[in-house]
Amino acid sequence: MLILGIESSCDETAASVVEDCRTIRSSVVSTQIEEHKKYGGVVPEIASRRHCENILGVVKQALSEASVSLDDLDGIAVTYAPGLIGALLVGVSFAKALAMSCGKPLIPVHHIAGHIATNYLSHAELEPPYLCLVASGGHSHIIEVESYTKFHVIGRTRDDAAGECFDKCARAMGFCYPGGVQIDNAAKTGDPKTFKLPHPAVAGNEFDFSFSGLKTNVINLIHNSLQKGIELNKNDLSASVQSTIAEILTDKTMKAAEHLGYKKIALAGGVSANTGVRAAMSAACAERGYDFYMPEKFLCGDNGAMIACQGSYDLLAGITADESLNAIATLSMEDI
Ligand code: KG4
Ligand code: ZN
Repeated sequence: MLILGIESSCDETAASVVEDCRTIRSSVVSTQIEEHKKYGGVVPEIASRRHCENILGVVKQALSEASVSLDDLDGIAVTYAPGLIGALLVGVSFAKALAMSCGKPLIPVHHIAGHIATNYLSHAELEPPYLCLVASGGHSHIIEVESYTKFHVIGRTRDDAAGECFDKCARAMGFCYPGGVQIDNAAKTGDPKTFKLPHPAVAGNEFDFSFSGLKTNVINLIHNSLQKGIELNKNDLSASVQSTIAEILTDKTMKAAEHLGYKKIALAGGVSANTGVRAAMSAACAERGYDFYMPEKFLCGDNGAMIACQGSYDLLAGITADESLNAIATLSMEDI
């Protein structure tokens, strides 16, 4: 089975061909980061325009690198939710036109399900059920992956996502967008015990996250020291922010695993590239004797392979769409 996956939910135009659910035949990612850097974050209008310009070339390249023609495909999968609406619309419209013109099934894929699927690409033996922490720029979720196509959200962020918190703290420290990776680099030579940062308490669902208090605390810390003419050590602050975010994500995931009886845990999303988060999750799982899975680094950020992989499982489950498919900016995984 050969599936073409198309992703355009944020600032990466990506396409990939995946064979038999788990083998990547090609993966092309055209990132717009350099352009958005000038504005300190993704400018939705610019993102949509670049997707329009790039999508045909990216898809052609993915097909050619896989040595696959449109005729060889068994389906065309596309991210239809959630994300920036104008950005999503480019991928959805393109995939619809392509699927209709070559008479192939169109497969609508939820972006978070795609992130989860990166673990199938990295670990041939992984099968549901398991518990997955998905942390990215737009989402922080603890999800029960009941089957390849059935998900139950156990906890989610009430405000900022973990990646957003990394990026906003990084911006306050003077790092350019996207700051998560810069905090990761600076943290390598910093002392995580230098700054005691808050672990926010969340009333109600004990598996929900909240990162806005941590972000505010870091911003205030920087402003107060600036007013006093003290320059904070960026490496120490980065290490402290990183270890605090890693602890919050790991603690809640371990509590949820214990509560629900899961011994198989996975990590996914852009923040799964973070050294501190990978180490904390892997140590916590090892301590408890849990099996732990995380994607290879090149699959952590947005890519087309994750959409093609999840699209393959969706197609096997009979999930397809017709020409009425629309993009949706906000859509819970439980409503797919
Ligand atoms: O999954 P993703 O590519 O896009 C969304 O679906 O949101 O995630 C992007 C997020 C950004 O916030 C970025 O700063 C963060 O993932 N990120 C990292 C690292 N690499 C990417 N955060 C911390 N450390 C990293 N190494
Ligand atoms: Zn993503």
